[in-house]
Amino acid sequence: MSLPPQRPIRSYVLRQGRMSRAQQHAFDTLWPRWGIPYAPAPLDRAAWATRFDRDAPLVLEIGFGMGETTVALAQERPDTNFLAIDVHIPGIGSLLKRMADTGITNVRVMHHDAVEVVTHMLPPDLLEGIHVFFPDPWPKARHHKRRLIQPPFVGLLASRLRPGGYLHLATDWEDYAVQMLEVLGNTPTLANTTAGYAERPAYRPLTKFEQRGLGLGHGVRDLIFRKT
Ligand SMILES: C[S@@+](CC[C@H](N)C(=O)[O-])C[C@H]1O[C@@H](n2cnc3c(N)ncnc32)[C@H](O)[C@@H]1O
Repeated sequence: MSLPPQRPIRSYVLRQGRMSRAQQHAFDTLWPRWGIPYAPAPLDRAAWATRFDRDAPLVLEIGFGMGETTVALAQERPDTNFLAIDVHIPGIGSLLKRMADTGITNVRVMHHDAVEVVTHMLPPDLLEGIHVFFPDPWPKARHHKRRLIQPPFVGLLASRLRPGGYLHLATDWEDYAVQMLEVLGNTPTLANTTAGYAERPAYRPLTKFEQRGLGLGHGVRDLIFRKT
């Protein structure tokens, strides 16, 4: 008797949400230019360079939300390529609209589960950096298995960094911060850049989402580790 295939545990639930007219317009006109469709085959450095129309250090952002941070960082670091991934469709429209409004050209957007993208499309030693800012906290104990930052996925992320590349996480959920510190600290190929939590780097702008957390009295923790 063959067992039915197991459904993978996802780190998100697809939320309802409509794009504004402006986001929809940005999506319709700009997705063909800046969007990268998912295909389960690794792309080497040269293939990624083709997708960005230039070869430059590549930073991956997982779960960009509405894209405020993505665009701010892409403006601040014009010599870096940013691959921004999210599953929330209004956020895709929002990021594309922000790209059009600011005129930046160093971001490419994917609408897919980042776990699958990292697993199947990114070869080892590719990335300069990885940003995971305010991943869904899944606060209930029975949902902790849905949290992104767990040993197998962090091991996979570390393998995709070039030696010396960095992994930067931020969260406003204290018990998730503790879990992050433990998981990263136990990943043999990662080393903390500081003792414990990092200072909030000036380059990470404050998003509305984060402001809401601060308003609720949540402290914010940053973690920055490097691949050894
Ligand atoms: C809590 S929001 C934070 C958004 C943003 N980073 C910020 O700071 O405002 C988490 C985001 O991660 C996205 N997300 C969760 N799991 C994901 C996955 N496996 N792949 C891609 N995006 C994911 C969600 O859709 C959501 O937009």
